[in-house]
Amino acid sequence: MAIEHGPIDTPPRAPSPAHKFGTLAVHAGSEHDPVTGAVIESISLSTTFAQSAVGQPIGEHEYVRSSNPNRWNFERCIAALEQAKYALAFSSGSATTATILQSLAAGSHVISVSDVYGGTHRYFTKVASAHGVQVSFTPSIELDIEHLITSDTKLIWIETPSNPTLSLVDIRAVADIAHRSGIMVVVDNTFLSPYIQNPLSHGADIVVHSVTKYINGHSDVLMGVAAFNSDALFEKLKFLQNAIGAVPSPFDCWLAHRGVKTLHLRAREASKNALLVAQALEDSPHVLAVNYPGSASNRHRKIALKQHRDGLGGGMLSFRIKGGSEAAARFCQATRIFTLAESLGGVESLVEVPASMTHMGIPREQREAAGVFEDLVRLSCGVEDGGDLVGDVRQALERVVVGGKIGNGVMQQGNGVGHV
Ligand SMILES: Cc1ncc(COP(=O)(O)O)c(C=O)c1O
Repeated sequence: MAIEHGPIDTPPRAPSPAHKFGTLAVHAGSEHDPVTGAVIESISLSTTFAQSAVGQPIGEHEYVRSSNPNRWNFERCIAALEQAKYALAFSSGSATTATILQSLAAGSHVISVSDVYGGTHRYFTKVASAHGVQVSFTPSIELDIEHLITSDTKLIWIETPSNPTLSLVDIRAVADIAHRSGIMVVVDNTFLSPYIQNPLSHGADIVVHSVTKYINGHSDVLMGVAAFNSDALFEKLKFLQNAIGAVPSPFDCWLAHRGVKTLHLRAREASKNALLVAQALEDSPHVLAVNYPGSASNRHRKIALKQHRDGLGGGMLSFRIKGGSEAAARFCQATRIFTLAESLGGVESLVEVPASMTHMGIPREQREAAGVFEDLVRLSCGVEDGGDLVGDVRQALERVVVGGKIGNGVMQQGNGVGHV
């Protein structure tokens, strides 16, 4: 199938927007090899590309950090899926965040939602501040944004759904206010993937992903990506992508590009499973509260219906278990299909306790103000059979509550850095 990609010497761009998501996921950036006819792109490991005369490369590429075929193909695919003009790939989601923050001048001010991913919080508070960029956090950005904006505010950082409380933000409402003051809005779309939400079509200026999660989907690649429409942003971020050099390897780009071809299938299945698990948790007497934007009773359901494809809730959810941190720790050891591990968005289901693992680096008071209590358990629902996942959660809750001793009942603690 031939899909228009635009002239090859132009920056990575989307193919025809007339095609629907599944078609774009499979074909965007995936031209057949014009010489061999290979349907699947080759992995181009070469770090350098021959030139026919000084300054005249034979093809489009000169040196692997600046550009290479596998990265371009992946970037084209993501641009298509996020309905963006441009996409740029980075060596991790964190490197994507760092590169965007590096694009701000010293003295800039950023406003961020409070319950951002722990590593983003760490970067904002410990690294950006060292470069003269100050970040204010708010648990209710739609209400507070106007009061928080100063003449130095250059960027608003939103995670929707947030990690790990799955709170939603009305992107359009925030963007309308931000744009009146010429402020850019970035949305971290990692938890939903471009299949479920396209933040640019709700007014965001940049959408970022930890590709490590749903986009790659197989828990075997560390990568990040940013997508946007502005030509000026492309020039700035492309320059920093090359100058900082936090770029992914061609092999990782190839793997992630292969992974994203099934994103629509995986995201639908994970959402279906998460809804079943959320319903089972809501019905359980051992559960205090469930955070899942796909549930009809969720406090942010209206925003989900507005922003998410078919109102899907995605594969992530969290819940507060009765019995405090000990019960949360025991639950994670009692599951048989959900693996106790950090990360999310893979085909396999995972479970973790954010307060002791991914969000341990955030001071307790701040963490709890954002709803990240010690009894909060986060689940990443994979694409296993939904009935098996529900059965696994139910049996784990029963085992925790009847007090069956599982191991020594004490979880291995992280090193306080909060990896994921
Ligand atoms: C929402 C979110 N954004 C960004 C990141 C950082 O991504 P990476 O681990 O690829 O650096 C993560 C990692 O878990 C995340 O959950």
